[in-house]
Amino acid sequence: MNTMTNNTATTTPVLHAAGVTMRFGGLTAVRNVELTVNSGEIVGLIGPNGAGKTTFFNCLTGLYIPTEGTVSYKGAVLPHKSHLVTQAGIARTFQNIRLFANMTVLENVLVGRHTRTKEGLWSALLRSPGFKKAERESEERAMELLEFTGLAAKRDHLARNLPYGEQRKLEIARALASEPGLLLLDEPTAGMNPQETRTTQDLVFAIRDQGIAVLVIEHDMRFIFNLCDRVAVLVQGEKLVEGTSEVVQGDERVVAAYLGTPYEGAPGADEVAEVEDAEAHSTPGTSGSSGTEGENQ
Ligand SMILES: Nc1ncnc2c1ncn2[C@@H]1O[C@H](COP(=O)(O)OP(=O)(O)OP(=O)(O)O)[C@@H](O)[C@H]1O
Ligand SMILES: [Mg+2]
Repeated sequence: MNTMTNNTATTTPVLHAAGVTMRFGGLTAVRNVELTVNSGEIVGLIGPNGAGKTTFFNCLTGLYIPTEGTVSYKGAVLPHKSHLVTQAGIARTFQNIRLFANMTVLENVLVGRHTRTKEGLWSALLRSPGFKKAERESEERAMELLEFTGLAAKRDHLARNLPYGEQRKLEIARALASEPGLLLLDEPTAGMNPQETRTTQDLVFAIRDQGIAVLVIEHDMRFIFNLCDRVAVLVQGEKLVEGTSEVVQGDERVVAAYLGTPYEGAPGADEVAEVEDAEAHSTPGTSGSSGTEGENQ
């Protein structure tokens, strides 16, 4: 499957973001980002804290309306409504886990299926034969997904009682319940121990092998470089580099961006130089260092 991605003449990209820009007042969180994900691919999106990765996901999934640019799924431009984006075939997980804490594991996955079941309100209220059949099928599929993510034994546990790592997996199971063609994962291994991270890596490979393309944000570089066919690096809202793990690891601008060292032509480098220059001139002898960033959210 992975080897088919060279067949460029016939493949329509699963996802194509064209010139996506997102401004919040005076802040440009995402600037003119171009990104393609093809079928069979796992693509990574990395960058320092505040680089705009989650904002970009929010633009892709209809949560934000980009200030400029368009997002297409399998060749069709997506509407700016998250439920329509889900219906089109894009599912996601959230950096800050969003489960129904007081529902069971199984119920959480069933909620994820509602975009794919056509039984309507009256059918549900009247508990028609059609509704019961659909309900049975939904439950079967939800259980398959719980098996797939290793959570079947916990089906009746309340989501809030799951350990953190399993809550992240449940988010993945719930996202898969909408039967997506593209899965967006926002920091799927945050807070996981190394063992859980490894099983998540295997899970993402298994998802890809089922024909679902994956775009994943993560700060764990070992995880990203093991997993991804391609990696894009966002720095201050701009795509700095994109390429294979080897290309990205070998690019000194990426290292500089993570260390906060300005490099020639870096986004914001002029402003940084100006501020440093002003500081140097205003208070000689009391220079404090700046530019550190928090690690977690
Ligand atoms: N709704 C919003 N309103 C105003 N500013 C926002 C909003 N959402 C994000 N931002 C700003 O946009 C920038 C990018 O934030 P974003 O959360 O996308 O970064 P990130 O790359 O996901 O960072 P992290 O790795 O820490 O999750 C930050 O400066 C953030 O404060
Ligand atoms: Mg984020």
